[in-house]
Amino acid sequence: MNKKVTTNPSDSPFPSPLLLVTANLKGSEPNIITVALAGILSANPPTAYIAVHPDRYSNQLLKESMEYVINIPSQSIVRTADACGVVSGRDVNKFKTLGLTPISASYVNPPLIDECPVNIECKVKEIINYGSHDIFVGEILMTHCNEDVLNANGRPDVNKIDPYAFILGEYRKIGKSIGFYGFSSKK
Ligand SMILES: Cc1cc2nc3c(=O)[nH]c(=O)nc-3n(C[C@H](O)[C@H](O)[C@H](O)COP(=O)(O)O)c2cc1C
Repeated sequence: MNKKVTTNPSDSPFPSPLLLVTANLKGSEPNIITVALAGILSANPPTAYIAVHPDRYSNQLLKESMEYVINIPSQSIVRTADACGVVSGRDVNKFKTLGLTPISASYVNPPLIDECPVNIECKVKEIINYGSHDIFVGEILMTHCNEDVLNANGRPDVNKIDPYAFILGEYRKIGKSIGFYGFSSKK
């Protein structure tokens, strides 16, 4: 048996995604926030969530516009993704200062980030305050992928997207495939 010891619950080694979320008000400059407290809530209807602290400028934009785009960055722009999480859109235009390119979404007002290979358009269905953060539950209206990150069958290829995780304050690579859903019951 392993010897178990207790550690700080708020410092749990829980791997999170690392995402760049765009939001804006109609007619105003779009903003970007780095978010790790996020995930998928439901497959049908496809639904995501992001948890955003009330102090963030993005929180205000999300509440007023009720829309957002989740952009998945590749490892090649990890410094840029970090930079989006240490300055506020109240003070700087992150698209301009970081050299990122906004492109129009199909259903929502906030733009896709061209430099991110995957962009997921969401409409806010519910806002739930939970402890320190507000949870923005978003129905996924459309997912865009760069053509060059799809495999021969037209499915997104994880190696080509090259996403990474956030764990214990560090950005960590996602490694090689070590199995697939249900492989343990296959002969
Ligand atoms: C790796 C990383 C993960 C972060 N995750 C979150 C998060 O999940 N929720 C949140 O509210 N802030 C998170 N932040 C902090 C915001 O990204 C940061 O406060 C940002 O400057 C807010 O920008 P804004 O004021 O333009 O909205 C994270 C920052 C970093 C660097």
